[in-house]
Amino acid sequence: KSMLMRRVQRRMGLLHLDRVDDYLKRLREDPEEVAALDKDLLIGVTAFFREPEAFVVLTEQVIPDLIRRADGDHAIRVWCCGCATGEEAYSLSMVLIEQFTAVKRVPNFQIFASDVSEASLEMARQGSYPESIVSDVSPERLHRFFTRVGENHYQVSKQIRDPIIFAQQNMLSDPPFSKLDLISCRNLLIYLEPEVQAKAIQMFHFALTDGAYLMLGPSESIGRALELFEPVARKSRVYRRLPQGRPTRLELPLVPRRGRDAPTPRPGAGARGELRTSELMQHALTHYAPASVLINRGYEILSMQGPLVDYLEFPPGQPTQNLLTLARQGLRTKIRALCQKAIDGNAPVVDSSAHVRRNGQYIACSVTARPITEPREAQGWLLVVFQDRFDERAEPPTSAPPAPESPLVRQLEDELRTARDDLRSSSEDFESANEELKASNEEVMSVNEELQSANEELESSKEELQSLNEELSTVNSQLQDKVDELDRANADLTSLLESTEIATLFLDTELRVKRFTPGITDLVNLRPGDLGRPVADFATNFQDDPLLADCRRALEKLTSVERQMQSFGGQSCIRRVFPYRTAGNRIEGLIVTYTNISQLVAARKLIDEGEAYRHVVTHLPVAAIFVSDTHLYINEAAEALTGYRQGELATLDAWFAALFGARKEEVSILYEGRKKRARTDAIVVTLTRKDGAQRTIELSGAPSDGIEIIVLRDVTEKRLLQRQVLEIASREQQRVGQELHDVLLQDLTGLALLADAARHGLGAEGGGRELMAKLSGGLEQLNAKVRALCEGLIPVEIGEGDLKSALEALCESTRNAHGPSVTLEADPLEDLDPQTAHQFYRIAREAVANAVRHGHPRSIVIRLLQRDAGALALEIADDGVGFDESRRRDAGLGSRIMQYRCATLGGQLQIQQREGGGTIVSCSTSRTQVPSGRGR
Ligand SMILES: C[S@@+](CC[C@H](N)C(=O)[O-])C[C@H]1O[C@@H](n2cnc3c(N)ncnc32)[C@H](O)[C@@H]1O
Repeated sequence: KSMLMRRVQRRMGLLHLDRVDDYLKRLREDPEEVAALDKDLLIGVTAFFREPEAFVVLTEQVIPDLIRRADGDHAIRVWCCGCATGEEAYSLSMVLIEQFTAVKRVPNFQIFASDVSEASLEMARQGSYPESIVSDVSPERLHRFFTRVGENHYQVSKQIRDPIIFAQQNMLSDPPFSKLDLISCRNLLIYLEPEVQAKAIQMFHFALTDGAYLMLGPSESIGRALELFEPVARKSRVYRRLPQGRPTRLELPLVPRRGRDAPTPRPGAGARGELRTSELMQHALTHYAPASVLINRGYEILSMQGPLVDYLEFPPGQPTQNLLTLARQGLRTKIRALCQKAIDGNAPVVDSSAHVRRNGQYIACSVTARPITEPREAQGWLLVVFQDRFDERAEPPTSAPPAPESPLVRQLEDELRTARDDLRSSSEDFESANEELKASNEEVMSVNEELQSANEELESSKEELQSLNEELSTVNSQLQDKVDELDRANADLTSLLESTEIATLFLDTELRVKRFTPGITDLVNLRPGDLGRPVADFATNFQDDPLLADCRRALEKLTSVERQMQSFGGQSCIRRVFPYRTAGNRIEGLIVTYTNISQLVAARKLIDEGEAYRHVVTHLPVAAIFVSDTHLYINEAAEALTGYRQGELATLDAWFAALFGARKEEVSILYEGRKKRARTDAIVVTLTRKDGAQRTIELSGAPSDGIEIIVLRDVTEKRLLQRQVLEIASREQQRVGQELHDVLLQDLTGLALLADAARHGLGAEGGGRELMAKLSGGLEQLNAKVRALCEGLIPVEIGEGDLKSALEALCESTRNAHGPSVTLEADPLEDLDPQTAHQFYRIAREAVANAVRHGHPRSIVIRLLQRDAGALALEIADDGVGFDESRRRDAGLGSRIMQYRCATLGGQLQIQQREGGGTIVSCSTSRTQVPSGRGR
């Protein structure tokens, strides 16, 4: 009770309540307080293998006996009543498994672990315990029955968890488990009143089977229930259930319910009928049965029958049930001797020589002591029967005691009685002292439990403090990290501000300078010593008259104010003034920035120019691509020519790749080369449209200041026409040549013959003959010239791959006709289409003829070179007088025709001065670029 009061007072103290009534009111209104008090009252102090000696008794005596008796399928049933957070139940599970294993049997047991506190049970079910359990559990058991979880917890193994059923159960009101072999109810009874404890012991007796065991806490005992349990190990509070004749009547709840819950007595006719029979029976026994008492071994009367007043007397004072105390004078020694004899011999014993003192006389009587053997529960009890003797051998009643009852014996008897009374009163004193001691002990135990729980609370507070401390250190180190981070961010910001070109000024709300970046010093000569001075002091130096007005406006409206202006020595800049907001969204001043935008303005100008170009390009009547650093734009004519749309290809590189495919690099190099040499003449290339069709174009550019306009002129038709013109001219040449050959040459030959005949006819002498000889010579020369002319006009038929032979023939005929040495250096050629061979041949012949005609060389070299990727180059080099630049500009017909021919092959013709004198004509082309099927 005192413990409960202390606990209640503790709660009241915590709530600052002085009166119990107030606390009661609080309890009625606040369910959380009820839960808190409940938690405080149910002291759940416990430990693994608590009071280890008790577990030694369990291990050495109790469990081996239970295992021995539990043969076959019978599982040992254990009830751990008031199991708190489960340590006791798991301890029992461990020792049971160990003992089963020791006798090489499969563990077969079931533990019902109950408690009234659901919170405790929840923890018990989890089976996770702190590291501190190492002080209670041996390392072997830890290793065998636990798993370490994380840093500081142990988890019970499945092996010891599986046999346990945790259940919420109030042992004061809920029905107990039954047919149990062992009940362990430790440190729970100490919280109960002695009467309730006694009822609990009865309940345990009811729940256990015969010979089963009960284990209590060190401050608990079975009290007076000596007929229900016998001690196995007194110190460890281990008891064995004794069989009992009368079945134990179990009354639940153990604590009477109050108010509405109290059971109401049930009146009924059946009850009255049963009563009547037993009353009659009692009546009959009273009158007809001999006086007898049923006693246990302690001479305590269990039951009385018959006219006992003749043999027993009931003295005033404390009531007693002891037979020896109640026995009338003359019987006590007899009864003791008889009972002892009956117990020793386990057989009925009769003494007929007894005399009982009744009404001042000694009356002969017999006393029988009969040991009870059936039922088993009653074994050890005795039935003591008294009967007066009426037979003839019985001595008549006398007032003097019979012989053996001498005054000495009587005196001794009296002394014995006095001693016994003294003993009884001492014993009672002792018992009451014992009770008091027990109560004090229980009080001490409960204080101890409280202290333990307080200790645990302190421990947990300590752990909490420790974890708080750890958290604080973590927070501290996080803070330190944050400070470092801030330092770094600050350093970054400072260096950013310093490295940035943006001149920045930080002002407070009074427009005083708080901070500035080095860039600001380009505007005004600010020094660190100027910090804190009003910006108005410097405003005029800024060449920024509206600054103060803008600052005030920004502070007033809390918005930024932006202004473009001339500063930094006339350069363009943007000045922004915006409010400085702190993390808490407070305005603590202004930030003024000056950003130099001169480059931006220049770029804008460029862009505007670009736009203008673009406008021009759009309206150009030819296909054109406009390229700048930032833009690439093609006009509609270019879209029509290439088949690609504006925006489809992003870079000039991509355009070249799309249009010129494998020749892209070549075209790029050519184009870039021209750009560098600032030549505006066009490059003739073949372009592949998006739909795959090929067009011949002239590519020319007009680069200027990072902007260029590339013009693409479609000359496909023009080239076709040129080729047709060449064809027609060739045909006409051929026709004229043929005509010359067939008609004029024949006529000339005829005339020469005639002249020759005339010369012969004129005789050997005279000027006529001489004249005729001249005429004949002149005609022969004319004939040779016409023949040579014919050779030039009538095309040489060049078969496939026959260009080399044709060129060799050209060398030979030139040598024969004109004298200079003409040689051919030719690479081995792959198959060449006749058209290309023909054009090359005509170019070579024209170049050789030109060299002979104008250069008067001593030697001419014709080179036919095979370049990479099927490209061919033809080169005619002579060591003549070279050529006159003015003549090249006039570009005689022969040269132009050569150029056309070369262009029809998709190539370029070049006529250059040769180092050391002479001329080189070169024509390089790619065979793959030659459009096939065209005439010559
Ligand atoms: C001091 S602990 C003892 C735990 C364990 N038996 C031991 O000795 O280590 C007492 C336990 O009994 C439980 N308890 C108190 N009254 C109870 C009742 N009427 N029915 C069941 N359990 C009760 C409490 O909740 C508490 O967990």
